Amino acid sequence: MSRVVHPEHTRTEMTWIVMPGHCNALGTAFGGQIMAWIDVCAAISAKRFTQGSVVTASMDSLVFEAPVHKGDVVVLQSMVNWAGRTSIEVGVRVEAEDTDTGTRRTTARAYLTFVHLDASGKPQPVPELRPRTDDDRRRAAGAEARREQRLDLRRVLKSKRGA
Ligand SMILES: CC(C)(COP(=O)(O)OP(=O)(O)OC[C@H]1O[C@@H](n2cnc3c(N)ncnc32)[C@H](O)[C@@H]1OP(=O)(O)O)[C@@H](O)C(=O)NCCC(=O)NCCS
Repeated sequence: MSRVVHPEHTRTEMTWIVMPGHCNALGTAFGGQIMAWIDVCAAISAKRFTQGSVVTASMDSLVFEAPVHKGDVVVLQSMVNWAGRTSIEVGVRVEAEDTDTGTRRTTARAYLTFVHLDASGKPQPVPELRPRTDDDRRRAAGAEARREQRLDLRRVLKSKRGA
């Protein structure tokens, strides 16, 4: 019988301070640096869920909503939103924290698809994700809609490459 996991058990939080080496000439964090942090945070949620190997299949709906400045404290939070047969969606929110007041503002969000692989590198079934709260169910419904769009795009791109 497959393992059952609640979304809450995949929750991951990572905190960084933005150093000069993370920044561009404008003194704000490189988008690519934030993407790398997003990928790591999401991968930890995915691994907590599968308890095995995962690879990133896609990162989409990535929006940088506000800049992150040198010296800011950045907090990334991720959670598994939805699970299919061998793939899962993880949602990530990136916030900048003002450590003087404790207030946070959202600076970026993204959704990543991971695929669970077996020892030979083939996709293998993931555990069952069991939503418990209304928020869990809302995130799962959003993830299903995004998955349809991803698969549609994948089909179109494949058919164009084949043409
Ligand atoms: C991701 C990967 C394993 C998928 O392989 P594949 O042969 O296309 O596998 P399948 O067609 O059986 O798809 C497996 C699952 O992934 C999903 N999937 C594959 N590509 C996807 C994409 N671009 N977007 C969303 N889902 C995708 C499929 O829908 C399927 O989900 P399901 O089992 O839950 O229904 C393969 O493309 C790969 O190895 N990519 C490179 C990964 C990598 O190097 N990442 C960076 C470093 S971690």
